[in-house]
Amino acid sequence: MSEKLYPVLPGAKANTQMDEATYQEWYQESITDPEAFWGKHGKRIDWFKPYTKVKNTSFEGDVSIKWFEDGVTNIAYNCIDRHLETRGDQVAIIWEGDNPYIDKKITYRELHENVCRLANVLKENGVQKGDRVTIYLPMIPEAAYAMLACARIGAVHSIVFAGFSPEALAGRIIDCQSTFVITSDEGLRGGKPIALKENTDKAIDIAAKQYVMVNKVLVVRRTGGKVSWGSGRDLWYHQEIAKASPVCEPEPMNAEDPLFILYTSGSTGKPKGVLHTTGGYLVYASMTHQYVFDYQDGDVYWCTADVGWVTGHSYLVYGPLANGATTLMFEGVPNFPDQGRFWEVVDKHHVNIFYTAPTAIRALMGAGDEFVTHSSRSSLRLLGSVGEPINPEAWEWYYNVVGDQRCPIVDTWWQTETGGILITPLPGATALKPGSATRPFFGIKPEIVDNEGGVLEGVTDGNLCIVDSWPSQARTLYGDHARFKEAYFTTYPGKYFSGDGVRRDEDDYYWITGRVDDVLNISGHRMGTAEIESALVSHHDVSEAAVVGYPHAIKGQGIYCYVTLMSDAEAKDQEELRKELIAHVRTEIGPIATPDKIQFAPGLPKTRSGKIMRRILRKIAEDDFGTLGDTSTLADPAVVDDLIDQRQNKK
Ligand code: PRX
Repeated sequence: MSEKLYPVLPGAKANTQMDEATYQEWYQESITDPEAFWGKHGKRIDWFKPYTKVKNTSFEGDVSIKWFEDGVTNIAYNCIDRHLETRGDQVAIIWEGDNPYIDKKITYRELHENVCRLANVLKENGVQKGDRVTIYLPMIPEAAYAMLACARIGAVHSIVFAGFSPEALAGRIIDCQSTFVITSDEGLRGGKPIALKENTDKAIDIAAKQYVMVNKVLVVRRTGGKVSWGSGRDLWYHQEIAKASPVCEPEPMNAEDPLFILYTSGSTGKPKGVLHTTGGYLVYASMTHQYVFDYQDGDVYWCTADVGWVTGHSYLVYGPLANGATTLMFEGVPNFPDQGRFWEVVDKHHVNIFYTAPTAIRALMGAGDEFVTHSSRSSLRLLGSVGEPINPEAWEWYYNVVGDQRCPIVDTWWQTETGGILITPLPGATALKPGSATRPFFGIKPEIVDNEGGVLEGVTDGNLCIVDSWPSQARTLYGDHARFKEAYFTTYPGKYFSGDGVRRDEDDYYWITGRVDDVLNISGHRMGTAEIESALVSHHDVSEAAVVGYPHAIKGQGIYCYVTLMSDAEAKDQEELRKELIAHVRTEIGPIATPDKIQFAPGLPKTRSGKIMRRILRKIAEDDFGTLGDTSTLADPAVVDDLIDQRQNKK
């Protein structure tokens, strides 16, 4: 790993709101006296009724997390209304279409009107405070309107990434018993339409079989593509909006009222409905957005994440809008019409702050520097990275070629469950090391523990825990608090366990090494091996499946599936079957779960008690046959030799 140190850039130092001395001072206070620290910073958002209590949290026993618990506020009010007087005519959202000739600018005043109208449409169609609204939309402004309209009336949104299949959408609708869905006729990415309404129709049918009845579907007309229509159930967005009143008072919300549910993969079972609440979430999202990105008034800020992921919640919509920023939303993909698209958009809209994922950086790096150097990028001041460890080569390319050695890179570590960035450089304060997320943000106390929970000090590596609460932490898993406790607070009792491995170096910098559980990180997207396995075994030809990750040059990790066939399927054409299984997983979960490799395995290595030894399967997938470790505890050690033989013959 590169340990090269990049001192704070003079430009970042001159511009900054946060220098090293202030970081140290604030960090100390945030750790020694969180009540005082957050009591002060909680006031960065507007409260209808100020809080008198700041922190009431316990990682022990039943695990209870409350911040600003007697405060009353509204997130849409904070993201829109409070800006109207001073920046009503400022652009809130720049929308850049998939087609490079199409874009749109929405001012805060226009955002207000759109959100109020939609909020009224929701209310008129029976949506009440606390109801769950599923949003299955592409990257269009209506996605942000929908989030904010829910927040305005106190409905809880559950966004499902538009790349998920009808089955996956149905699972999420069923889990939170959502009866209202907002979607569009089609999505458009890289010039290709995606049949979102059709997927929604299928998902609703699946949900109905589980007795979850979706009453209303609000459909945005994006492409004009043909859709089928359920009369009485389906409503055109544009028609309803036109009829609705542009006045809608924001609902007073308690700080701990739910804001959204976002499903994410765990190491076992079905996706987890991570629940975030109102006050602490917005305080932390807006504060990190300001200091991590050194966001300043007038900056144009672009986060490339989709609204379907947590980054799209905290750093595309809520954090930036709470700060009165101009946030850019991009409908398309980095390589359409060509691999220079990102940098063309940067020049077109004079983007100052650019936040993306290592997988995109690696893919663009592979396309050659010319795509970058065609553009000026002179507006850029800061670059960010999120979603997976960034390899030093990609970091250097991002820094040297994209940033022309002028722009600090903030490598931000966080998770769906953390709500906001926990470990990150601050551009005016932190010297950078390529590949390290560097130091904790205010209020974050990381601890590294060994597998038995022993605390490791100094230079070390182990499992990453956070020992005390921070305001934007998830409060529970929707409808399953027991699973919440079990997943995050039981492995190392009294601590939040992230599921990530980490190394701490001699400068107290943190280097995230990746998941230590059975969760994969595919192009920065979390995917549980258990979910892919259950998709595979739901195919009639499969008797057993084990899925592991292996290093992949662009995606970070690839999906490697070991599949044992039913005996009557063994004679089938393997190539055909491989294609069929890949298609099957795409139908069950979505294209992001597409298996990269399928090895038909006559048997899987298991312990005598029947547990699959993934450690061995991982090594075989990595072609690392020399260090398989002890295989003597296996029920049938010969299975391993068969797998290796098979793999070597394939080369
Ligand atoms: O393994 C870590 C990795 O992404 C996981 C969280 O995924 P998700 O909940 O989908 O949220 C992604 C966006 C916040 C983490 O457990 N991860 C995220 N950011 C980084 C990272 N790994 C290394 N460096 C990062 N900067």
